[in-house]
Amino acid sequence: MKPINVGLLGIGTVGGGTFNVLKRNQSEIQRRAGRGIQITAVADKDLARAQSVVGEGVRVTDDAFTVVRDPDIDIVVELIGGYTIAKTLILEAIANGKHVVTANKALLATHGNEIFARAREKGVMVAFEAAVAGGIPIIKALREGLTANRIEWIAGIINGTSNFILSEMRDKGLAFDTVLAEAQRLGYAEADPTFDIQGIDAAHKLTIMSAIAFGIPMQFEKAYTEGIAALTKDDIRYAEQLGYRIKLLGITRRTPAGIELRVHPTLIPARRLIANVEGVMNAVLVKGDAVGATLYYGAGAGAEPTASAVVADLVDVTRMQTADPENRVPHLAFQPDQLSDTPILPMEEVETSYYLRLRVFDRPGVLADVARILADHTISIDAMVQKEPAEGEDQADIVLLTHRTIEKHTNAAIARIEALPTVSGKITRIRLEELGRH
Ligand code: HSE
Repeated sequence: MKPINVGLLGIGTVGGGTFNVLKRNQSEIQRRAGRGIQITAVADKDLARAQSVVGEGVRVTDDAFTVVRDPDIDIVVELIGGYTIAKTLILEAIANGKHVVTANKALLATHGNEIFARAREKGVMVAFEAAVAGGIPIIKALREGLTANRIEWIAGIINGTSNFILSEMRDKGLAFDTVLAEAQRLGYAEADPTFDIQGIDAAHKLTIMSAIAFGIPMQFEKAYTEGIAALTKDDIRYAEQLGYRIKLLGITRRTPAGIELRVHPTLIPARRLIANVEGVMNAVLVKGDAVGATLYYGAGAGAEPTASAVVADLVDVTRMQTADPENRVPHLAFQPDQLSDTPILPMEEVETSYYLRLRVFDRPGVLADVARILADHTISIDAMVQKEPAEGEDQADIVLLTHRTIEKHTNAAIARIEALPTVSGKITRIRLEELGRH
């Protein structure tokens, strides 16, 4: 059978990795896919870079539209990123009857519903394993491997840059800015690193996983996102003393009232495997009703780990190309007419536990006032540590861990505690998840 022809849009880090992996493992991939998979055209605005990666025999152009319009191309791989030109190119490729493989989480989380609808009309596939957690086959696991399960929740470390920053701050006691600069130098961060540190990149990936897990449309605009920039070395140290690590987690959970969709720094017990995922690595914990908790771990970024996911999609598309579109694995795991309108819960309605750190004047009755306010809002204290004031200071840190409560109760209690004359400044609030059986 003649090889399937691929057009590659963007030959930067991941594009270069994809080209090299396909070339190096060509014969094994062919044995798996049932036919050859060859990149016959590459579009990149840096022609010299593209030419140096692909060598002779592959058409190189700086006009990506000539690739998506090329009648000889069967699959378009989009590795440009961003929402504008990438979206136009993908929609045009689909309109021209081409299958699409993309790593573009930002685009899918925000425009995926439209893109999948167009793909269904044309009977083509849009595959996106590389969009979430780099080389970890989490899309395949959620959509196919766990298909017997009612998924209950997912909690993931899905941004390598922020995990690297938190790991380095904890390990080496370094300041946030120093580690961010290092992450950029090492090439982990997004073009706009605020996407990494503000939790936006993680929220894009979480939105995609949530849709597949629960059979709902992509709803990135309803995700709650809070980044890591405000975390201090003190909080990391206090958490550690209490037996917890702080990670930037993406959490999506099915509750009777709706679906939680949230990204924020989270204390997790240090004994959990996922708490020990360090550096740029990613991990996703999925709780299914039949299988229980399963954990997926691996490189969340980088040239060849991400290429591993892109090439897996190419093989999938190649194998499935001849299947009747109605009988292929659906884009979002559930049949398109079976998506549910279960609401995404507003953050105020989410139930979780909390780490609260407050600076207080070291005087009688301070703790009693704080405890009274928490009790008024039905918030139960799980643990408490008071740090001695530093030499010559009259203010001390109090760290409280609460039992599970509703976010709006915590908001109300925090506002009242901050208004106490014996409390100085703002309360630091970090959410806490046990990630146990429930
Ligand atoms: N900037 C992303 C990260 C790259 O740090 O995880 C992979 O999406």
